[in-house]
Amino acid sequence: MTKHIAILTSGGDAPGMNACIRAIVIAADRQGYQISGYLRGYNGLLDDQRITLTCERMHNLLQQGGTILHSARCKPFTTEQGLQTAADNLSKASVDTLFVIGGDGSFRGAHALGDIWDGQIIGLPGTIDNDVAGTDATIGYYTAIETAVSSIDKVRDTADAFDRVFMVEVMGRHAGFLALHAALASASDYVILPERFTDERDTLSQICKQIQQRQAKRGPVSYVIVLAENVWPEGINDLCVKLAKQSDMEVKPVILGHVQRGGSPVSQDRLLAVQLGTYAVSLVETSTSGVMVGTYEDKAVTVPLPQTWEETKPLPDDAVTTMTTLMNERYQ
Ligand code: F6P
Repeated sequence: MTKHIAILTSGGDAPGMNACIRAIVIAADRQGYQISGYLRGYNGLLDDQRITLTCERMHNLLQQGGTILHSARCKPFTTEQGLQTAADNLSKASVDTLFVIGGDGSFRGAHALGDIWDGQIIGLPGTIDNDVAGTDATIGYYTAIETAVSSIDKVRDTADAFDRVFMVEVMGRHAGFLALHAALASASDYVILPERFTDERDTLSQICKQIQQRQAKRGPVSYVIVLAENVWPEGINDLCVKLAKQSDMEVKPVILGHVQRGGSPVSQDRLLAVQLGTYAVSLVETSTSGVMVGTYEDKAVTVPLPQTWEETKPLPDDAVTTMTTLMNERYQ
């Protein structure tokens, strides 16, 4: 019997999801599998909204941002009734393998589905947040860094021109990967990370001290701070007001927002997407199920789905140390 595989993209879309879909479809077509795509994440499973995916449809797709399958979060899927409907629809459509491209929330859903549906389930990490344990990186993360960096570079131009302080908020949900790497790669002066944040007063006084030290040495200076979203309890505007008051400088807020989710994927995301997509298809003939495919030191690996959210993924120590060193730079 020809195997029937199905793909869906779920949660926050990420650049490289299309590249991953393309890799899965081409690799699966090579094996002669029937290939379907469910639309709008788990919603498509509930409504049986399904399209046939062919190699022809994959032409010119790898470089496109977004996802041709559309994405969404889906509350009804998390209920017992929702899971049962999804399982019934998969069985009716005779799906053998379901590929879920998404983040840890999507994997929780996939894991719960695995309890009542006996098909094969394989997750592929796709999120700009990189907050999924069990993989070095997630599809979309590198592009989001690139987007944030190019925006911060532009902020720096105007910050320099006016010797101003800017506060740039980046995404990441509750993880600081994007903020840390965007700050490092853009030579930002300070970064506020969820994993390192301790106290409002401490943060404010550290920043003020640095600004004053630089002003004492160099006269008027620009100063760019990267703020990870959801860290400052009262939000970016409150932080800017407090910092302006304490530093006696104007502080401009910039929220990068969803722009970080869009755009053509950079090479690293494309390479990760094709590596994981083809590896996932190579598992179809095996009994492996309930896993996410990821990379560990560049090699494709599988990890049980619960590990992706139960384990905490730590920020890379080296990057934190480097950022701390550079934040305290001394100009002679
Ligand atoms: O998980 C991806 C992400 O973009 C997070 O960085 C952000 O916190 C969240 O999704 C935003 O979600 P929404 O698009 O639903 O506002």
